[in-house]
Amino acid sequence: MKVVIGADHGGFELKQEIGKLLASDGHEISDLGAHRYDALDDYPDFALAVARAVAAGEAERGIVVCGSGVGACVAANKIRGARAGLCHDTYSAHQGVEHDDMNVLCLGARIIGIEIAREIVRSYVGAAFSGEQRHQRRLNKVLEAERGDSESR
Ligand code: RB5
Repeated sequence: MKVVIGADHGGFELKQEIGKLLASDGHEISDLGAHRYDALDDYPDFALAVARAVAAGEAERGIVVCGSGVGACVAANKIRGARAGLCHDTYSAHQGVEHDDMNVLCLGARIIGIEIAREIVRSYVGAAFSGEQRHQRRLNKVLEAERGDSESR
């Protein structure tokens, strides 16, 4: 699977580990930065780059890491076509894909350790959208809101 990854200084080290893990599992990784630790960098730069790449179809999935994962998630969800979720447990990481078609995983490097992060990432990339009618119906409502169709109701 093609996966784009990104992180600010808060998530830099964990992002490096995630990249290595996914590459060793056989995934194609595109690292959109940061490419070096910079305590003054800003999470939106990386979250937006990852979300845009996924929304443009350049990768099937994205992963963004910041300190808490919150800022990355807020920023990524501003991009049309990105469905970002903050997951610090394996259930949410796979269920978010299976039910909600989540395509950007957000992690907080100050919240979880490397081993649970590895398990979360593997749960996420190993999951697929169910396509079940009820899940598609709910997703369609989200997509409709994203298009702005529901704002006049
Ligand atoms: C950076 O210090 C930190 O604020 C950022 O990584 C993130 O936690 C924001 O949500």
